[in-house]
Amino acid sequence: MSQTIATPPTVRLDSDVIGKPINRTEGPAKVSGAAKYAAEFDVTGPLWYGYIVSSPVAKGKITKIHAEEVLAIPGVQRVFSHENVPSLAWFDRAYKDDVAPGGSPFRPLHEPEIMFSQQPVALVVAETFELARYAASVLRIEYDVEKHNTDLESSIDEAFDAPKGKTGFLPPPKPKGDMNKAFAEAPHKVAGEYIHRAQHHNPMEMFATTVDWLGDGKKMKIYDKTQGAPNVQQYIAKIFGLSKDEARIISKYTGGGFGAGLRPQYQVFLAVMAALELEHSIRVVMNRSQMFSMGYRPHTLQKLRLAADDLGHLQAIEHKALAETSQFENETETVVNWSAILYDAPNTNFDYQLTKLDLNTPADMRAPGAATGSFALESAIDELSYKAGKDPLEFRLLNYTYEDPSENKPFTSKRLDDCYHEGAARFGWEKRNPAPRSMRDEKGLLVGWGVAAGCWDASTQKAAAKAVLTADGHLTVSSATNDQGAGTYVIMTQMAAQTLGLPMSQVTFNLGDTDMPAAPVQGGSWTANSVGAAVKNACQEIGKKLLKLAQKIDDSPLAGVDFEDVQFVDGHLRANEDITRSVAIADVLAASGEAKLEADGKAGPNPLNMLKYSMHSHNAAFVEVKVDEDLGTIHVTRVVNAVAAGRIMNPKTARSQVLGGTVWGLSMALMEETYLNKDFGRYVNHNYAEYHIPTNADIHKIDVIFVEEEDDIASSIGVKGVGEIGMLGVAAAIANAVYHATGKRVRELPLTIDKLL
Ligand code: MOS
Repeated sequence: MSQTIATPPTVRLDSDVIGKPINRTEGPAKVSGAAKYAAEFDVTGPLWYGYIVSSPVAKGKITKIHAEEVLAIPGVQRVFSHENVPSLAWFDRAYKDDVAPGGSPFRPLHEPEIMFSQQPVALVVAETFELARYAASVLRIEYDVEKHNTDLESSIDEAFDAPKGKTGFLPPPKPKGDMNKAFAEAPHKVAGEYIHRAQHHNPMEMFATTVDWLGDGKKMKIYDKTQGAPNVQQYIAKIFGLSKDEARIISKYTGGGFGAGLRPQYQVFLAVMAALELEHSIRVVMNRSQMFSMGYRPHTLQKLRLAADDLGHLQAIEHKALAETSQFENETETVVNWSAILYDAPNTNFDYQLTKLDLNTPADMRAPGAATGSFALESAIDELSYKAGKDPLEFRLLNYTYEDPSENKPFTSKRLDDCYHEGAARFGWEKRNPAPRSMRDEKGLLVGWGVAAGCWDASTQKAAAKAVLTADGHLTVSSATNDQGAGTYVIMTQMAAQTLGLPMSQVTFNLGDTDMPAAPVQGGSWTANSVGAAVKNACQEIGKKLLKLAQKIDDSPLAGVDFEDVQFVDGHLRANEDITRSVAIADVLAASGEAKLEADGKAGPNPLNMLKYSMHSHNAAFVEVKVDEDLGTIHVTRVVNAVAAGRIMNPKTARSQVLGGTVWGLSMALMEETYLNKDFGRYVNHNYAEYHIPTNADIHKIDVIFVEEEDDIASSIGVKGVGEIGMLGVAAAIANAVYHATGKRVRELPLTIDKLL
């Protein structure tokens, strides 16, 4: 059979979409305002509003709530507090959400005791938002105030080893050799203490819940701002003794999360409680200051000791961290382990402790533990490179690990060396004068160049998806995953389109509804990989059904061909061996007479591979700063961020993830700090005016490089995830560049003007 091949492989195929910089499918809805967030959904009947009242004291007990005064205001419906909180199921008093650490989760309005400043103490429900807010503002509450302690530095003696209990938390690696002896004897050494205070997630969208009371028993549609609808559903169903049918959670769009929305937040509890009690639709939205009342990157003190021999080889690594947590939960981050993965030495010691304070529980915040741990590590490594007389980049390459020393396992892939080389080439690192204070620009500003590396987990979680192919040729795939702005909608559409060889326009991906197949919370950089594999598997199942149907057609060109030998390209099934043996999907559907084909797909971790291998993404950040010595101002004028994170499904959305991470690294380095007034035990800059984050004027040139890795072991689809890796290294690279510019080593973040003087 001689025939012209319709689509030679060199031609761009409509369905060849993975790895292409495709625009977000939900972009038009977001920019036109059609995308609805949790506080924007309409409900079936009238809507009432709940306004949260927060405790002004950090520790004590509520003695009196003058609810009757505000209940006298026409339109006020109810004041909920510990005095009248309905008896809840509390099926399991120790019930924990998927991301909860060890301890006993905070239960809003459950007891009169105050455990942290801004603790929610009452919910005022009224017929309008303004009325609820007004009534909440005049609600008088009396407290017995007790002495609080929110001071980490003065509570070091109460530190204890961080217990296990949180999914994903790795205890510090075991020590090796004789740290003290090696450190004492080494010719080159560094000992430093690194400090950062609390930082708060500041997503644009505030935590909000709209409960649509459907008037059919206890049935509710609950629109919630969360990074994981299924996690919220489990929590709500358990606490209130509801069936999943009664508590459907919907979260179509999430206006930023960064970890703040991993755990169900208290507004969803309050809104559902009020709806159940009043049998009415309710909306509860936190205000901006209440956004500082939960979850934050904990204030952490870190100590590092590093030593190298005459040739610059690391001989000793010690990394200790102490973080704050609440009185009722032990929030844990993986802080020090990165120092045992990125570098190796014959003598090591690692330690990670917590201290309980009268604060709310901290939470995961983008690259939790690693963002701060790598700041300390990569600052100390930089310092040691100068002591050892090596270029900071050369020193890192000299101490490069080809296996993961923390677990003595090979990496599934690690192209950090190529990140260093490609990043350095793009940055122009070879033109660097190694001496501090040696470079100036044409205006006389001090110029500093710094580098730092980062490492993050490439992990897979259990996820499921469903695919439906209808007779009109449209493929609809769904999974109850989330998109907090990362690009999940578009990359899952790409995955489905590529797997079945359909154009993007014929594929729809839906998410954020607990009626869909379950998926994990969106976090840990695991969504692309976990949900992506589930989507691929669901689509492949459809593919198998299509092949079977295609082979039922008389004189089928695909007769006798196995599924493994079939490709799906441009709306056709074709035999790999001879692509002229081809059938259009539309023709298969028409011939079959089926109205639709449906299939489920699942994915999850591979425990055997996890035992054998270490799975990580890496990056190297190169930074140029300019410092005005007279004013002490620091400008980050250039960043090259080179990332090795497996296969990149969409270079446009992936680049945006790394850009965002880079901006946040800059923000962490130079601006962010939630200031805790220890006399009041209260964060005092809980607003956008006083909690400093970068604006456009602070951001200059940022270059992103992806060093792609072929890695079918870390994940079945070759993806490692890019949600967090871009943030790593950036803060340390900035501090290192500031040292190179000024000769001043700052070990405390944020690196504000006063610390340079
Ligand atoms: Mo991210 S801190 O895993 O939401």
